[in-house]
Amino acid sequence: MNSWHELEGYFRKTADRQIRTLFDEDPERAEKFSLEADGLLLDISKTSIDEKALSRLLRLFDESGVAERRQRMFDGKRINVTENRAVLHTALRDPNGHPVFVDGIDVKPGIRESLSGMSAFASGIRDGSLRPLRADRFTDVLNIGIGGSDLGPAMATAALVPYGEALRTHFVSNVDGSHVRDVTARLDPTRTLAIVVSKTFTTIETITNAKSVKFWMENACGADSVSRQFAAVSSEAGRAVEFGIGKDRVFGFEDWVGGRYSVWGPVGLSLMIAIGPSHFDGFLRGARTMDAHFLTAPSRANMPVLLALAGIWHHQIAGYETLAILPYDQRLRLLPAYLQQLAMESNGKSVSMDGRPLPRSSGPVVWGEPGTNGQHAFHQLLFQGTRIAPCEFLVAAVSHEPDLKEHHDLLLANCLAQSEVLMRGYPGNGRHSAVSKNPAAASSRNSLARHREIKGNRPSTTLIYPKLTPFVLGQILALYEHRVFVEGAILGINSFDQWGVEAGKEIAKSLLPAIAEGADSRHTGSTRQLLDYIADARRRSDAESR
Ligand code: F6P
Repeated sequence: MNSWHELEGYFRKTADRQIRTLFDEDPERAEKFSLEADGLLLDISKTSIDEKALSRLLRLFDESGVAERRQRMFDGKRINVTENRAVLHTALRDPNGHPVFVDGIDVKPGIRESLSGMSAFASGIRDGSLRPLRADRFTDVLNIGIGGSDLGPAMATAALVPYGEALRTHFVSNVDGSHVRDVTARLDPTRTLAIVVSKTFTTIETITNAKSVKFWMENACGADSVSRQFAAVSSEAGRAVEFGIGKDRVFGFEDWVGGRYSVWGPVGLSLMIAIGPSHFDGFLRGARTMDAHFLTAPSRANMPVLLALAGIWHHQIAGYETLAILPYDQRLRLLPAYLQQLAMESNGKSVSMDGRPLPRSSGPVVWGEPGTNGQHAFHQLLFQGTRIAPCEFLVAAVSHEPDLKEHHDLLLANCLAQSEVLMRGYPGNGRHSAVSKNPAAASSRNSLARHREIKGNRPSTTLIYPKLTPFVLGQILALYEHRVFVEGAILGINSFDQWGVEAGKEIAKSLLPAIAEGADSRHTGSTRQLLDYIADARRRSDAESR
């Protein structure tokens, strides 16, 4: 019997067992099913994974050849087979490490040169030696990008606010005109640096936004402002120069960096300007530390591997369709969105590496919001809904606001309480202050009991870290990158292409004439009806505005 069938059988056999009984049976369960690595603590003990399940999961890891594929990735082999590319975001954060060769060329000198160019530019913007055309210094940075050209820097800049006092950083991503309008309305064009971030420099949202920002800036500062107040990050430098950006302001990167894995290099330019080169280096060091752990720790004591195996157990084996990412940290409010792209653009596939249909689901729908806000939005479903959603909690032991200790104590108490109640449940006859005290209400109290009861036995993991620093953020992001890698490798997926999103772009292009000019189109049915509605609504709006 293969490991998948063994695991499915074992899950069915133990499905009725309560997680809490695992603690009763083994007082050392918390320690045995937790792992410390370079200051992080990952606790997977509040799941139904026991030693037998874990040993079968580890056997699946071994049988899937993950370790060999991992080494090939770090060594620069072309593991992204459908695009015939290497996958080397790990090299970006190890600029001074051992050589890594692609097509016989060591990539490290280019990475060092790129980092050096970014640092010089970022320092010049921060210290005012690089100035705008009509003001004494830059006060605001506007990152124009989408997907991995937005989510990485936007999430990391929000996460590291305590380290980003120099300039204000803003992000425009959606092609919806309200986004660029609302963001630029708050900015002074004479003091704004715009950074156009696009690996391909063809993404229609980014190019459209860049053109509008260029128009906005030239209107206020004159045509020659673009050369001083724009920069670009792209692997297509020629296109950026064509757009009008000075060659010395174009930061290139290679095609072996995937968009959702790109924050470690030039895509992180707005982050480096916000937190400075030194803290950006700390960010890289954290990821490099996690890389070393991932490469060297035995699988049973390997944090990305354990987190991945918990994910496999919950989704592919138990069949839980979604995964909730719940950072108890308002500055990590964009982490769920970042991890959505990382996980679902990497493993949201339906064929394996050789093109055959996958024999099982490729991965969960990833969602989430920061705590404690989620408690007042969807935790009701997490506790009493008919569907189980495994939760991954993240929380810092120490906050950046020592004067607001009471807040952090409450945050920590709420975070730990959620995972405890998810697992242990809560009695229906519990002391709910909200329920009437009078005897006559006794019968209603009993009938209410079924409404109030939380049955528990719902799994969660908790990742706790000392404090949200650049180093720790680097560790966390690398942890999740490698977790996604392990899950994809076990499923035999190419986690590094994204053909599915190309189709949407093509159809959008074909629809544009019908929407922009009301041109006839071959579209029928629902799309035809929607096109007609748009055309009618626009005619009415035009008539009213005349
Ligand atoms: O979503 C598809 C995608 O290609 C992502 O992988 C990428 O991060 C995003 O679009 C933006 O692409 P680019 O950086 O080329 O503009």
